[in-house]
Amino acid sequence: MADPLQEPVIRSAIQALALSPGSRGLDVGCGIGLQSLLLAESVGGAGQVTGIDLSPEFMVYATGIAEKAGMSEQVSFQEGDVKSLPFDDDTFDWAWSANCVGYAPGEPLPMLKELARVVKPGGSVVVIAWSSQQMLPGYPLLEAHLNATSPGIAPFSREMRPELHFLRMAGWFREAGLEEITVRTFAGDVCAPLSNDIRSALIALLEMRWTGVQPELSEDDWAEFQRLCLPESPDFILNLLDYYAFYTYSMFRGRVPRVNVSDGV
Ligand SMILES: C[S@@+](CC[C@H](N)C(=O)[O-])C[C@H]1O[C@@H](n2cnc3c(N)ncnc32)[C@H](O)[C@@H]1O
Repeated sequence: MADPLQEPVIRSAIQALALSPGSRGLDVGCGIGLQSLLLAESVGGAGQVTGIDLSPEFMVYATGIAEKAGMSEQVSFQEGDVKSLPFDDDTFDWAWSANCVGYAPGEPLPMLKELARVVKPGGSVVVIAWSSQQMLPGYPLLEAHLNATSPGIAPFSREMRPELHFLRMAGWFREAGLEEITVRTFAGDVCAPLSNDIRSALIALLEMRWTGVQPELSEDDWAEFQRLCLPESPDFILNLLDYYAFYTYSMFRGRVPRVNVSDGV
């Protein structure tokens, strides 16, 4: 069930946050809730995590996963929109959003303000997302060309303002009034021999990153891409005896001010 590429890196990121044992947190855009469970593990049995997502189907699925993991007491899920969170001000000790706020389409500022609104003064707002990868060892030019296509830069697009790129999140944190802003990069890597799980995850990733690239590639690049990146090709790159790849997640963290400026204190 766990994503074998994502899980070790997300675990390292969560560990680096050192969330307080027994604290109450929110996982925004939680998907099927895998990270909500990891977050709940990190705050221990007395802690609470609420996962929220636009998709009601994901929420049903996530609830089933939490039950199976014996964590229904600590983790709950509900449908909701980050643009208008169904919680009172100062409800949570921290809020986390992975591959959603600042990454999915939409202006990050109102979303960050919503996260800050529901987090108590002094609590943390954290956003984290996949930020790079090197998956074609020995073919840097082809990989650069692939990454220069529209699918390669997604979810960013050529029409978007540079400020809307995920790597510019620190500016939006500042705009949202968050303090003590920090950024950290977490890397994951894989090396042959690949387990079946890792191999399947890499195949899915190759497909996800570069589906639809053909119109933006030269004929030579397209032929080389098919030779190296299609599992049925005899030269499929994951079959290299010494295959190695790495990828990164970037994590931005800011603190909700302890004193509300509008109080004039
Ligand atoms: C790429 S998935 C990330 C899921 C999970 N956080 C992870 O990293 O594995 C993005 C998720 O954000 C959810 N999402 C997108 N826009 C949202 C919004 N405005 N409010 C709440 N959830 C949203 C989507 O339904 C989807 O489940």
